[in-house]
Amino acid sequence: MAAEKVQPILEVKALSKDFVAGNVLTRRTVKAVQDATFNLYAGHVTALVGESGSGKSTIVRMIARLYQPTGGQILFKGQDVAHDRTRGRLLKYRSQVQMIFQDPFSSLNPVHRVRHNLERPLIIHKRIKRRQDMREQVHSLLRRVSLTPVEEFADKYPHQLSGGQRQRVAIARALAVEPLVILADEPVSMLDVSIRLGILNLMAQLRNEQNIAFLYVTHDIASARYFANEILVMYAGHIVEGGASEELIQNPQHPYTQLLLSAVPDPARGLRTAEVEVVGEIPSLAEVGLGCPFAARCAHVMDKCRKAMPPRTQLSETRWTRCYLYE
Ligand SMILES: Nc1ncnc2c1ncn2[C@@H]1O[C@H](COP(=O)(O)OP(=O)(O)OP(=O)(O)O)[C@@H](O)[C@H]1O
Ligand code: SF4
Ligand SMILES: [Mg+2]
Repeated sequence: MAAEKVQPILEVKALSKDFVAGNVLTRRTVKAVQDATFNLYAGHVTALVGESGSGKSTIVRMIARLYQPTGGQILFKGQDVAHDRTRGRLLKYRSQVQMIFQDPFSSLNPVHRVRHNLERPLIIHKRIKRRQDMREQVHSLLRRVSLTPVEEFADKYPHQLSGGQRQRVAIARALAVEPLVILADEPVSMLDVSIRLGILNLMAQLRNEQNIAFLYVTHDIASARYFANEILVMYAGHIVEGGASEELIQNPQHPYTQLLLSAVPDPARGLRTAEVEVVGEIPSLAEVGLGCPFAARCAHVMDKCRKAMPPRTQLSETRWTRCYLYE
């Protein structure tokens, strides 16, 4: 099983991102992420679950240093990296914090064979000391993601692989630089349901054997329950509830999480998909005010809910939420 939570490897503190959208006449600020705070731990999977447009990928992209945060901090091994643009340090950070995308094609070069795709990161991040070790290193990566016979897979082009095999190569590519953190943004949602489990099991194996910290973004609560130690629920740019996966699913506390879980097929029945569906109207992120983003849809809404975002309430050692019902 996963390692004990001790020191976080990565800390996200009060992270926010505003986008400016529209043209000169329709210009508006989209508050894509507000005040996101959570930690990632070695050997531990944290799932980020929420409706489409709730801000999940924006969080991932800020941590991957693809988007500059509007506010807040990202601490990696205790150092703030959110605003550090020093080239050498950025390259090192990017090797230690790798990303796996929904579409594996986006991280593979289609005109080159698998072998070349795996050699590139080894060269760029100087992971290879002697040229003659390259072949064995590439084969070892393919073995780690169970693509055997390795010679055969190394010589294929990405388009000659199935979707699941391509995602395995993308994972091997991420592993090439020995990352401490993997950010996986919907890594199985484009794959057939029948092969999703194999990829999730591979990632679980990497978590357990190599102590990698995962941030796993998904719409699928069943897979979050299966793979993640902890779940964070996002709604309209805010993380509204977080905690140990099983407890959160068995006993959701935030009214939005309750609604979300009541709308999905029973995630208790194994790894069937249980996709998060949009239930009711999602507020426009350009209009989200100061209060609780769920106020317009909440059956328990109070005056104060519309005035300020509720603070974080610790419900137990492993659970927290942001809702005035639990203040
Ligand atoms: N580059 C951008 N410019 C302007 N707005 C953006 C940009 N990227 C994201 N947004 C907006 O930010 C909000 C959050 O988007 P994001 O992609 O993070 O959501 P998501 O939770 O990943 O959704 P999905 O589940 O569909 O992938 C959305 O309203 C989106 O339109
Ligand atoms: S803070 Fe208020 S509006 Fe928001 S979920 Fe809680 S009770 Fe409902
Ligand atoms: Mg997304």
